[in-house]
Amino acid sequence: MIYESPYLMKAKDYIAEQLKDRVGAHDLNHVLRVYNWCIKIGEELNAQLEVLGLAALMHDIIRPEGFESNHATESGVEADRYLRSIGYSDEKIESVVATIKAHHGLKPLDLTLEAGILWDADKLEAVGAVAIARTFWSRGALGLSIEDGLKTIETRWSKIKDMMHTEIARKEAEKRHNFMVRFIQEMRREIDNPKLQPQSFHPK
Ligand SMILES: [Fe+2]
Ligand SMILES: [Fe+2]
Repeated sequence: MIYESPYLMKAKDYIAEQLKDRVGAHDLNHVLRVYNWCIKIGEELNAQLEVLGLAALMHDIIRPEGFESNHATESGVEADRYLRSIGYSDEKIESVVATIKAHHGLKPLDLTLEAGILWDADKLEAVGAVAIARTFWSRGALGLSIEDGLKTIETRWSKIKDMMHTEIARKEAEKRHNFMVRFIQEMRREIDNPKLQPQSFHPK
């Protein structure tokens, strides 16, 4: 059964409208994938699904592409404003905002159940096929090369699978990681071929 509540329905409509023109790694589809994983894991672990779902929907509402510093805090502030405007309770708003603020950064410790689930669901987007696509899109949008994208995948995303807080996300991350390793090997085989290096056109 799909979990639903009037506040979640409202927030989904709001987020769909807010992000309708956003393209790239943090678009509406990213948010919806994160949301779906949060509900799936949250149901399994008896998390507060409404708080978790609202945090998932709003977690990247302020997310300029390429600027990574403050977006979790800024998204928390915006979620606070929006949830107040639809009459959500103060206490629950506090939990939603804290969950959003904790989703950023590598391997934060001492997270609440909901914050750990959002962190995991968000980081599943940094492992596997979608992660590869998102990375090349983001690096390209910043004017960086395909090789730079590959390095990001090798150095940053290869570590994610060992950082998960929940068992469900860890298992999914492992599958995705194995695919990513195969992708890296194949891409390295193709681009590191010495016969294809630019200097080989000008032998000394
Ligand atoms: Fe984020
Ligand atoms: Fe995200």
